Amino acid sequence: MNRLRQLNELGIDTVWRLRGPSVAVPGLAAAGAGMPAGADRVAPGAAAGAGAGAVAVLGEAALRGVTVPSGWDALEQGVAACNACGLCRSRNRAVPGRGDRSAALMIVGDAPDAEEDAEGEPFAGQSGRLLDNMLGAIGLARGAGAYVTNIVKCRPPAQRSPQADEFVQCAAWLQAQVDLVSPRLILVLGRSAAQGILGGEASVPLLRGQMHRWRDRPVLVSYHPTQLLHTPRDKAKAWEDLLRVRHELSRQPSDRR
Ligand code: URA
Repeated sequence: MNRLRQLNELGIDTVWRLRGPSVAVPGLAAAGAGMPAGADRVAPGAAAGAGAGAVAVLGEAALRGVTVPSGWDALEQGVAACNACGLCRSRNRAVPGRGDRSAALMIVGDAPDAEEDAEGEPFAGQSGRLLDNMLGAIGLARGAGAYVTNIVKCRPPAQRSPQADEFVQCAAWLQAQVDLVSPRLILVLGRSAAQGILGGEASVPLLRGQMHRWRDRPVLVSYHPTQLLHTPRDKAKAWEDLLRVRHELSRQPSDRR
C-alpha cells in the first residue's frame, strides 16, 4: 500500500506540523528513574502487590526475583511457559512480541485479544492492520525498524483490561525485551499500557505530546489503534504523534535531550 493510501486509511487529509518540545507532566512518575541497580534481569512472579495506578510497577517491585534466562529463545520459551499470574489459565497462546529485534522503535500495547491469543502474534486483528498502516506511513514495519509487544503477554478474560497485579507479574518480560531490543524510542499505545508503564492515572490526552522516560529510554504515548477505530476523529492526533516519533528517530543521539 502506498503512503497516500496509508494516510487515507488513517483518515489524514491534512498536513500537520510538529509541536514544539514539551515537558513531562508535573508529578508524573519518571518511571525508571528509581530503578534499583542490578535489577535488569529478573523473572516474573516475585513482585509484591500492586497499588492503583501501578506506579513503579515496572520500576521497582517487579524487579525483585529470579534471573530471566538471557537471549530471545529463552525469553520466548519463558513467556510461553509462564504461570506467574492467573492469565495463564485462560490463555490459548502467550504472545511475547514480534518484529525487528534491533528496532529503533518499540511499540507497547496493553494485552492480547482473541485473535492474538489464537495466533500468538501481537496486534493480529483489525487494530493491528491499522497499526501496520500507521507504521508504514512513517516508513516503518514490524519487521523493519519496529518491534511490537504488550504490557502483558496473555489475554485477559472477558475482554477486560489487564490489572495492575498482572502488570507486576509480567513486567520483567517487558524489561528483558527492552534490554534485548535496546530501542531508541518506546511508543506506548493506550491508557492501560501508559498507566502501567508510567504509573499514575493520567489519560492519553494528557500524556501524549510529551517526552517521558522509562528504563532510561524516551517514551511517547499515543492512542490505541482500537480506540482510533472507535473514534476516528482522534486519528489526526495520532498522526501528529507519529510525526513526532519520526522526528525523534531521525535525530542524532547528540541532538537528543
Ligand atoms: N490490543 C493490544 O493492545 N495488543 C494486541 O496485541 C492486540 C490488541
